[in-house]
Amino acid sequence: MKLLHIDSAATGAGSVTRELTSAIVARWQDAVPGLKVSYRDLDSAPLPHLTGPVLAKVDQAVAEAGEQALTQFLDSDVIVIGAPMYNFSVPSTLKAWIDRVAVAGRTFRYTENGPEGLAKGKRVVIASGRGGLYGDDSPADFQEAYLRQVFGFLGVTDIEFVRAEGVAYSPQHRADALAGAKAAIREPLREAA
Ligand SMILES: Cc1cc2nc3c(=O)[nH]c(=O)nc-3n(C[C@H](O)[C@H](O)[C@H](O)COP(=O)(O)O)c2cc1C
Repeated sequence: MKLLHIDSAATGAGSVTRELTSAIVARWQDAVPGLKVSYRDLDSAPLPHLTGPVLAKVDQAVAEAGEQALTQFLDSDVIVIGAPMYNFSVPSTLKAWIDRVAVAGRTFRYTENGPEGLAKGKRVVIASGRGGLYGDDSPADFQEAYLRQVFGFLGVTDIEFVRAEGVAYSPQHRADALAGAKAAIREPLREAA
């Protein structure tokens, strides 16, 4: 089994979502002997934004980096993603990665019956960090709702959110939110939801 661990927080060692992704990956390593883990840090090694020249594959090295991100995603059974809320959405580095893995004909396609996701059978676990409090259904949430939409569109039906929110309210809020999120990490080998 292969697990892809992705971080995108720009906040370095004190990051809430980095701490959560580490805890989630450790749980998977404990549960699955021989689990192959690959790591991608989108903050220290971001992919370029999807501009016209990138889309047109003008630069071969950039094109290869995008293809490698796509094949790494396709090759993974489990994808653990650290996704802090930045300006109500996800970090632009994470968006740039999504722009390279959401590719027509590879991870989705349109048919006469509408769109079809091609990245089926994967599990996606999102470590969600938020400074404020939004809960499950806030109209201001373009972070978790966006990620659910994108991965659902690609055919992923098993998406777990491990959420620490309200972390900017006070140090105590942050500590409580982190502890609550860690306690809420689900059993890796549970049946799909
Ligand atoms: C650039 C930036 C933008 C942010 N925007 C929001 C926001 O729109 N809403 C919110 O609730 N928190 C916002 N926050 C707070 C983060 O979501 C919160 O601190 C989260 O835990 C960050 O995760 P991290 O510690 O892994 O970086 C923002 C933080 C940063 C650095």
